[in-house]
Amino acid sequence: MISENAPLASLDQWEDDVISRYPEPEHKSKEDYRNYDSPERDTVREFYRLNHTYQTYDFVREKEREFLKFDKKELPVWGAMEFLNTLVDDSDPDTDLDQLQHLLQTAEAIRADGHPDWFVLTGFVHDMGKVLCLFGEPQWAVVGDTFPVGCQHSDKIVYPEYFANNPDSRDERYNTKYGIYEPNCGLRNVHMSWGHDEYLYQIMKDYMPEPALYMMRYHSFYSQHREESYNHLMDEHDHEMFKWVRKFNPYDLYSKSPKPPVVSELKPYYEDLIAKYLPATLRL
Ligand SMILES: [Fe+2]
Ligand SMILES: [Fe+2]
Repeated sequence: MISENAPLASLDQWEDDVISRYPEPEHKSKEDYRNYDSPERDTVREFYRLNHTYQTYDFVREKEREFLKFDKKELPVWGAMEFLNTLVDDSDPDTDLDQLQHLLQTAEAIRADGHPDWFVLTGFVHDMGKVLCLFGEPQWAVVGDTFPVGCQHSDKIVYPEYFANNPDSRDERYNTKYGIYEPNCGLRNVHMSWGHDEYLYQIMKDYMPEPALYMMRYHSFYSQHREESYNHLMDEHDHEMFKWVRKFNPYDLYSKSPKPPVVSELKPYYEDLIAKYLPATLRL
């Protein structure tokens, strides 16, 4: 069933498509799973048509007003993860890992490489913002590659042709290279398309080290961390911090293994990590 709220059979379809666009280097020649005629590709295309049409500057400001009040729910961090895990997709339950398993696999891969514990915790929480779906938000306002709003859309963003449908593309305040921004003003001054990255950053911003916050906030900003097409808005500090965003990305994309982690074995370690950095409950 395709609807404007849920064009994708599951949120994973977006991530699977990202992996097909940015395959793990050593797997590139071995397995080429780009198939532009597949039915999945059509749903992903429809997803981006909606995302690029509706993610305007005004839409983003409206969502910021709506969700950054954090008046929807209050939960312990592990409880928020379990809440996220109630997100049921129509996708094949035999082959797809649930949200908690993706988060644990990402975090465990980071831990196995000996990174600092706040980096591991970042892996564990990085998609928690997808609870937006459980608050009734359409998929195209939760996942998908993110991009700056209020200035010209880069043609390095996936399916750039759909920005022709976006009213901002015809608005002279927003359709120039810099739009409402100053050259190299720093991303902290830039509004990004609305989704799980920005929402999680806003939930976590008082608690985690700055590199962790960059990873959370920009992990879906592929047109910058993979394509560098918004250098004209970045400042020196952003460039320093994006080293961390790039360090994080392979763990997000390539840590998926069909062997599901044993949640009960890992829970004590993650509860300790949560207690070290985060408050007892989070306001969503
Ligand atoms: Fe994500
Ligand atoms: Fe992820």
